[in-house]
Amino acid sequence: MGNYVVEMLDIRKEFPGIVANNNINLQVKKGEIHALLGENGAGKSTLMNVLFGLYQPEKGEIRIKGEPVKVTDPNVANRLGIGMVHQHFMLVENFTVAQNIMLGVEPTKKGVIDIDKVEREVAELSRKYGLSVDPKAKISDISVGMQQRAEILKTLYRGADVLILDEPTAVLTPQEITELMKILCSLINEGISIILITHKLKEIMDVCDRCTVIRKGEGIATVNVNETTADELAALMVGRKVEFKIEKTEAEPKEEVLTIKDLKVKDSRRALMVKGLNLSVRSGEIVGIAGIDGNGQSELIEALTGLRKVESGQILLNQQEITHLSTRKITEAGVGHIPQDRHKYGLVLDFPIAENMVLQTYYQKPFSKNKIMSFNKIYEYGKKLIQDYDVRTPSPRTKARALSGGNQQKAIIAREVDRSPDLLIAAQPTRGLDVGAIENIHKRLIRERDQGRAVLLLSFELDEIMNVSDRIVIMFDGKIVADVKPSETTEQELGLLMSGSQPEKEGDI
Ligand SMILES: Nc1ncnc2c1ncn2[C@@H]1O[C@H](COP(=O)(O)OP(=O)(O)OP(=O)(O)O)[C@@H](O)[C@H]1O
Ligand SMILES: [Mg+2]
Repeated sequence: MGNYVVEMLDIRKEFPGIVANNNINLQVKKGEIHALLGENGAGKSTLMNVLFGLYQPEKGEIRIKGEPVKVTDPNVANRLGIGMVHQHFMLVENFTVAQNIMLGVEPTKKGVIDIDKVEREVAELSRKYGLSVDPKAKISDISVGMQQRAEILKTLYRGADVLILDEPTAVLTPQEITELMKILCSLINEGISIILITHKLKEIMDVCDRCTVIRKGEGIATVNVNETTADELAALMVGRKVEFKIEKTEAEPKEEVLTIKDLKVKDSRRALMVKGLNLSVRSGEIVGIAGIDGNGQSELIEALTGLRKVESGQILLNQQEITHLSTRKITEAGVGHIPQDRHKYGLVLDFPIAENMVLQTYYQKPFSKNKIMSFNKIYEYGKKLIQDYDVRTPSPRTKARALSGGNQQKAIIAREVDRSPDLLIAAQPTRGLDVGAIENIHKRLIRERDQGRAVLLLSFELDEIMNVSDRIVIMFDGKIVADVKPSETTEQELGLLMSGSQPEKEGDI
């Protein structure tokens, strides 16, 4: 009884039109990593926002170390030792790491903020827990992985001994994930308890002690991880068996849809990132780009979609040059884009979800006629996409902001796929999706391929690249360095190619 640090008992939380949490129980033991698993929209973030004091539950009790408490706001949560790293980070971009960490709890010396002290303390904490950050670095200049470590340090700096991590690995590369998992293990060794939300069953199997599963707002079960399997967890959360590897027929590529010739693109700091890249994608094939993050992939995708200037070289769509066109013109020419960063490029968060589904087409028929928008047509279409793509939302009028992270992602996919573009660029399309939704999206990409689309898939998950692609190209140092068939390669071989070595030479390393 006494060994629970956090107890959430019979928690109920409603939003207009939906019960997000219906009498959920969650009990976390001291020093454990407790996974919270559930489909997109199941109510995980909501439950954690209740624990962190961002939402007040309609019903239920919270106990911290056995004491009943009312968490009326996040400051109260901090005082109770609860820290949270949100699904979408909350750092001030043009502040340094140290400035972000001390925000709101600034120590002063003779009335002046003592930044040296903070930097010293941050350095100390980061050493103790193996969280490497540069306290003086500006947030906008550091990697996502380091931003996340800054978020974790921010909670530890405030004395948190219960850490809530909402899908921390969704935004990380595989290397960063390995590093984070090590950090989590060192945190529990120091007596910190962790609640981890993740859709990646492997992570649960690897580092978690227990797992609480919720489905459609209801608590389903809490299981000991060493007494279960990934398949069993998937079935518990989705309520059916999930196929991790989808069946598909051999691709039948036809005419060339995308042609890239000697493309050069610079990043925002004017460094050349795409260094003379050549690539073609044909109708009826899915080409997967494998590579370690930072080898020019983002710059390539941004150049293809008109979001970044091309320095030199050519991009052709159906043999027509689109190199220097605007994003709108490129879209009209037949390019669909599922962006990596759903908040930056994917959605207008304060628009209703149905209106987000016509962001590129609202000025065309049937959504507009003689410059007058037909909201009836827009909402009719929105409803259809919500249905077809299983976007879980109380209504088409709900603002995009109020949808769960994964359902925001499904809405973007629906919009981009449903326009049936000749070329579909999917950059990490399944980021943040649950295993059932991933299965659906993979099937959808294959169906698009079979209907003659050209699909360019960027993913850092080798599983996904291997499962979905018909052809895999490896991007290293701004160029395509290899082109292989999934059936004729292995993850090990891909790993070597991605790091710039040639697998044939394996023997003489
Ligand atoms: N602020 C809000 N206003 C209205 N509805 C909301 C709000 N926040 C969440 N919801 C709704 O509550 C339900 C649960 O959402 P929640 O974000 O908790 O899901 P989740 O389990 O975290 O999903 P995901 O894995 O996609 O992040 C969803 O139907 C969502 O639309
Ligand atoms: Mg969530």
